[in-house]
Amino acid sequence: MDKPTIFVNPKSGSIKISGEVDVVDIDGKVIETVTNPKLCGCGLSKDKPWCDSSHGEYVKIVAQQLRNARELVKPSHLYGAKPVRAREIRENELKYRLEHEEVLVGVKLGGALNSRKKDDPTYINIFGYLTDAMQCVDSLLVASLIYPRAEAEVVFKVGKEISTEIHPSEVLDYISHVAAGMEILDYRFGQVEAYAEDCIADNAGAAAFAYGAWVAAHQENLDALTAEVFVNGILTESAPLTAIQGNPWMAVVEVSKLLAATGVKLVAGSIIFSGSATIGVQMVAGNNYRVEIKGLGSVDIKAS
Ligand code: FES
Repeated sequence: MDKPTIFVNPKSGSIKISGEVDVVDIDGKVIETVTNPKLCGCGLSKDKPWCDSSHGEYVKIVAQQLRNARELVKPSHLYGAKPVRAREIRENELKYRLEHEEVLVGVKLGGALNSRKKDDPTYINIFGYLTDAMQCVDSLLVASLIYPRAEAEVVFKVGKEISTEIHPSEVLDYISHVAAGMEILDYRFGQVEAYAEDCIADNAGAAAFAYGAWVAAHQENLDALTAEVFVNGILTESAPLTAIQGNPWMAVVEVSKLLAATGVKLVAGSIIFSGSATIGVQMVAGNNYRVEIKGLGSVDIKAS
């Protein structure tokens, strides 16, 4: 008899075993004998351990799970998500939002762990889409979120369409205005293992955002400024803007790289959230949150 082989389909996750295989119970007693079985590796089969082709619905099912989640959900990598799958899930969610009359207004930059080796953590930049429905003015209903955190960021207004990678020396050609921004992050995969696949699939945790008055973009707007987060008037987090990519303008460069690789264009008038300067501050109903970047502006949100 030929040696059995195992083929793991890299796209679907299914596991095909060639040859005759005995299925045994806990005592080793043969229950049935199957030929060339296909096992589920994606975790979605309703007929485990066999693959029932539910993997074809993987992207839609995970996107739905994330959208409807009201508590932390299982990391997608436990379902065998690969980066390409994670990106498909993010795109599926955007498609759903656009079909429900939301308008794409920009993107946010974020970071995620790219390695599961505890002694060798490496981080990569990722992005998430921002739609008009995520914008909040004055208040935010935190009960609609799972673990919302407020982060202090710089917001850029795109003055000229971004469709290719931008060189750092060209950034001011593409950005017309800047503002102080508050991003409200709400990852549905918990706090401990923020791996890239999970974060990308979860649209980089983008849940809500707010920003203050626009200021004309000049290099000096951002040099040597500090971002502060206040809770009920008390300074809670503070960090120099150089905490953003070493120089906040580089956030625009990094976003342009990610978008060029994805084939996404940012039209004039779109916004870019830079990624956080500060640690995220957990939001609790009843509290007032303020992001202030002296020399740039501020934005206030009441959590209800
Ligand atoms: S791999 Fe086919 S249903 Fe899971």
